[in-house]
Amino acid sequence: MTQKNIILGITGGIAAYKTPELVRRLRERGADVQVVLTRSAREFVTETTLQAVSGLPVRSDLWDKGAEAAMGHIELARWADLILIAPATAEIMARLASGSAPDLLTTLCLATEAPVLIAPAMNHVMWKNPAVQENRDKLISRGVRILGPASGDQACGETGPGRMLEPNEIVAAVMAPLAVPDIVQAPLAGMTVMITAGPTREAIDPVRYITNRSSGKMGFALAVAARQAGAKVILVCGPVSIPAPEGVECINVESARDMFAATHARIDDVNIFIAAAAVADYRAVDEKTGKIKKSTDELSIALVKNPDILASVDRMHNGPFTVGFAAETDNLGDYARSKLESKRLNMIVANLVGKNIGFDADENAVEVFWLGGEQSFPLADKRQLAQDLIALIAERYLQGINADTQTELPIMMVRD
Ligand code: C5P
Repeated sequence: MTQKNIILGITGGIAAYKTPELVRRLRERGADVQVVLTRSAREFVTETTLQAVSGLPVRSDLWDKGAEAAMGHIELARWADLILIAPATAEIMARLASGSAPDLLTTLCLATEAPVLIAPAMNHVMWKNPAVQENRDKLISRGVRILGPASGDQACGETGPGRMLEPNEIVAAVMAPLAVPDIVQAPLAGMTVMITAGPTREAIDPVRYITNRSSGKMGFALAVAARQAGAKVILVCGPVSIPAPEGVECINVESARDMFAATHARIDDVNIFIAAAAVADYRAVDEKTGKIKKSTDELSIALVKNPDILASVDRMHNGPFTVGFAAETDNLGDYARSKLESKRLNMIVANLVGKNIGFDADENAVEVFWLGGEQSFPLADKRQLAQDLIALIAERYLQGINADTQTELPIMMVRD
């Protein structure tokens, strides 16, 4: 870690009482912390305490002539490797979402090119309010990382989601990307990522088909996150009802065989292939040209296996880094590890599916496995989860390339 200048914005919530501890933990990890207080934060925590623990005068006023003369706000925005706002109130989220900048902290957020992370803290009813949720969605779509909030007892005596994460949890999240400062902004710049998403639709006759419950939300969220990470993104997607993400090339397909053809037509320049589609395993042996008539009490339709797109990409000589998905109803870890090995993937993202979990939901919880490692991602909004997954995929992919450059082994060797 070479650069580690952190602006810690503190806004007016009761969780502000935990911020001196947060400053200490960040400094223990080698960070320089410039505290910026909003006016209401000063009701909860004092400048004297924060100055003592940070070792730097606290900033709070955009119009403070002395502070501005020492380091102007634009200079301060450039100084930061990262802006962390903890606790983040509903008010600061609304200001950030609207792009308004009436005070020093919001001005810094507009004037910086550094990543912005926020740890929301508020009453659980406020957190669930549609206006707050809409602002959260807007911020996520612009690349702001939302840390938490956690669920549990609240200062108001109620229980629910809205607690600020604990200082050590925030520090872990903040320090992970700072460990590789030069690739924080756009770790996948110059790379092409191809993602398959959604279900496929296998025709039985001109009006009927076999499909599944996949909504495409996870694959689409991964496409947005990969784009935000600087990659050129090709999204090969089955029939879904959500709009194509901006800045992403979307190739619409219907059947597994269409998806196979579209994938292979563009795979040669792809660095990372993420198979998030729920490809139908089988299709009708014989697709009828006319509508099947309702006649007999029983009707059998013979099915034949579809080509495995992921396996075919994986078998390519000097093929891309491959990430598969495994949706299971039980024994998640065992199935995922055996699929990782049998398909010889670089990584596998495993999630439980069932009623209201995994498919067609807005949230997901996954376990990721690779040879020699694994990581759990607790239940989170698919857009947030996608950002975290892309960060991990980028980290593992880039580690593979670096190892490869040092040992002069072909990229395929990374898998072993
Ligand atoms: O073997 P299983 O179908 O469980 O593997 C799931 C993974 O393989 C997913 O990443 C899925 O997108 C991919 N897959 C595929 N083509 C198929 C079946 C699955 O790319 N025909």
